[in-house]
Amino acid sequence: MKVPPGPRTGREDDLPGRSPGFGARIWEELAADLNGLDVQGLRRRLVTVEGPAGAEIVAGGRRLVNFASNNYLGLASDPRVVAAAVAGLARWGAGAGGSRLTSGNQGAYEALEASLADWKGCESAVVFASGYAAACGTIPALAGEGDAVCADRLNHASLIDGCRLSRAKLLVFPHADAGALDGILARHRAAYGRVLVVTDGVFSMDGDVAPLPELLAVAERHDATVVVDDAHASGVLGDTGAGTAEHFGLDNPERLVQLGTLSKALGSVGGYAVGPAILREWLVNRARTLVYSTALPASCLEAARAAIPIAREAHGPRARLRVLSGKLRSAGRALGCVVPEGGTPIVPLLLGESARAVRWHDRLAAAGSFVPGIRPPTVPLGTARLRVSLMADHTDSQLACLLDGLAVAAAGDA
Ligand SMILES: Cc1ncc(COP(=O)(O)O)c(C=O)c1O
Repeated sequence: MKVPPGPRTGREDDLPGRSPGFGARIWEELAADLNGLDVQGLRRRLVTVEGPAGAEIVAGGRRLVNFASNNYLGLASDPRVVAAAVAGLARWGAGAGGSRLTSGNQGAYEALEASLADWKGCESAVVFASGYAAACGTIPALAGEGDAVCADRLNHASLIDGCRLSRAKLLVFPHADAGALDGILARHRAAYGRVLVVTDGVFSMDGDVAPLPELLAVAERHDATVVVDDAHASGVLGDTGAGTAEHFGLDNPERLVQLGTLSKALGSVGGYAVGPAILREWLVNRARTLVYSTALPASCLEAARAAIPIAREAHGPRARLRVLSGKLRSAGRALGCVVPEGGTPIVPLLLGESARAVRWHDRLAAAGSFVPGIRPPTVPLGTARLRVSLMADHTDSQLACLLDGLAVAAAGDA
């Protein structure tokens, strides 16, 4: 997004390391753009967090209840997961030292990929350095010039970037609207070779679930393949937490590629794609983010592998997440917030203007809760929001702290 330059405030001079002279104009321009972001309430700042990603964190020096983490099942600090990481560190060392196609494919990969494929009920899995890398590697490996990618309008940035990198024609369909997708494909399908339908499983900023059976039916009609990103669905949706397909009772559909991350419910770091056996072979050959990037430290892989059986059995924590989500959604509405229907642990409280989201974030922080304010370009203009991310570990009193804070924030606007 091009940022209109803001007025000079004098704070440009606070920027570290600026040097005048040759090449300095670019920094002047960036400083003006940052001011523009400030003026629009869109400037982001890093907050330093101490300690593990738990239900409470110390952020910016203050202890706050953490409603910003994707560590849905609390596995990032689960002793079994941490012990696996420590053992992995001792066995495999701190870093892999090369890409997976050279010397970096340490044995921990094979074991994790087998475990992921088994969980997802697929023939193969391939692990990338992150969920972002999985999307940016997989989509361009499956579609290119002469092909088309149909993307839900509210897809996550990693999918958007994967679609752009593919150089396939980008066709955007209205959010979660399989009928509209059908219409687009009826008009345009014949002009392209391969067609991918690309969607989040659980939408990262809205918390709703993609209509996967309907999207697959449309894909079937038009000879397309669906790529679903289960970053927020894995560990959360379905009886064993296998994600969106399991949630809808779909048994390993032929036309489905599932992406995911090891960094949210599984509490580690890394990403993956699962599907038929040939998918793995193809991605190992063609996914540039796998081929040209150093393999993950095996300690992260071992942590994720230890987390999978725990996540599969986490029926109680998944039920707890649904209860917390229901309570927050109805309490939020009672306070006059606009809260969409749904049952996932991502609960958006829609506020409209960016400045309002910033104010509510600040008021909540003052009342003891850390809830990120999400602003454009992450969400469409005019739909700034607080994005509450629930963890199964949140206690009733921590939820009460959030609701008290929301009441204070709402009163501040009255
Ligand atoms: C829907 C979605 N896909 C992919 C990612 C990227 O995953 P990772 O953090 O592992 O790169 C995220 C969040 O980070 C996400 O929300």
